[in-house]
Amino acid sequence: MTTTHPAPIVSKGPAEDPFPLIGNDAVVFAVGNARQAMHFYRSAFNMRVTAYSGPETGVADSLSYVLESNEVRIVVTSAIRQDTERGAWLTDHVVRHGDGVTDIALTVPDAFAAYRYAVGQGAHGLAEPYTLEDDFGKVTLARVAAYGDTVHTFVDRSRYSGPYLPGYVAYEGSSGCRTEEDLFQAIDHVVGNVSLGEMNSWIDFYKRTMGFSQIQEFTDQDISTEFSSLMSKALADGSNKVKFNVSEPAPGQHKSQIDEYLDFYGGPGVQHIALATDDIVATVRSMQAAGVQFLKTPGSYYDKLADRVGQMRFSIDELRELNILADRDEDGYLLQIFTAPVQDRPTVFYEIIERHGCKGFGNGNFQALFEAIEREQALRGNL
Ligand code: FE2
Repeated sequence: MTTTHPAPIVSKGPAEDPFPLIGNDAVVFAVGNARQAMHFYRSAFNMRVTAYSGPETGVADSLSYVLESNEVRIVVTSAIRQDTERGAWLTDHVVRHGDGVTDIALTVPDAFAAYRYAVGQGAHGLAEPYTLEDDFGKVTLARVAAYGDTVHTFVDRSRYSGPYLPGYVAYEGSSGCRTEEDLFQAIDHVVGNVSLGEMNSWIDFYKRTMGFSQIQEFTDQDISTEFSSLMSKALADGSNKVKFNVSEPAPGQHKSQIDEYLDFYGGPGVQHIALATDDIVATVRSMQAAGVQFLKTPGSYYDKLADRVGQMRFSIDELRELNILADRDEDGYLLQIFTAPVQDRPTVFYEIIERHGCKGFGNGNFQALFEAIEREQALRGNL
């Protein structure tokens, strides 16, 4: 194993952080049917629908629903006509990628400064800072390009008290949630897949344009089967609130799972979003009861787990029953599990993660995860 241990994470004070971030603002999806996608996140992920925009709010060409669970915010948008620039763009995004992430939006203290810094460091600017306004106040936004068709919107919402953004109204329908309690606390990390040979330039992009630091690396020596492998690097912003990973396929005998993603997504894009929970067993039980499918873990994994990870808050039997993975580093342990893809294409999926000190990404589990995904890939005939 040649895994690099996580570098000690030192939070930078505001004075030395060239690109201060407040946190993840939202992960925005373009989908084929926002009303049904909203229902999925509400019923399966028990997320609250908090805001809406559409024809009733003066947006003639698309529907958007905002879903929240504590600090997690997911927005699903679909076009309802395509004779406008935005409607045509949304439709085209879904035609090319299926349901997928258009925007990993970041909350910033100053959208002008964020945009100026990122573009000054070589990011491709897509929208210079602009301000939207309604009765709840003002929001300033700016936008830069990321991998594939993915973008980052910088959002300064410090002068805004509305439910999401100007133009959105509080959602009036029934919450539809199964339980009052939110299942997730925050977005832990977001992972992008890029083409072979592009990972390092995207890692450099985040270091250069947004002040991120590399915190971990997985090589094809760490993650491989006899058929295929992948490489991945992890980044954190100066305050450690935002973590991104970028992965690329590594050459192997057969098609890597990253290649399968790239083929079906039609290029680079967001592969998975990790949601932090403070009770992974209750969260997974709740999601399973609602029909969410998780990747299976071979029984042999659990035979060695107690020796590898030691004492944890849940018993090995509970983890085995629910297919939850565990890993430990010098700072503590983590528990994690991965859903099956959440749309027709074998592209975007979710990770559920509970951390107890451990700042890594489950190095010891990458191999088990890789094998589990590869088994499902083989069932699809794409290995
Ligand atoms: Fe992950």
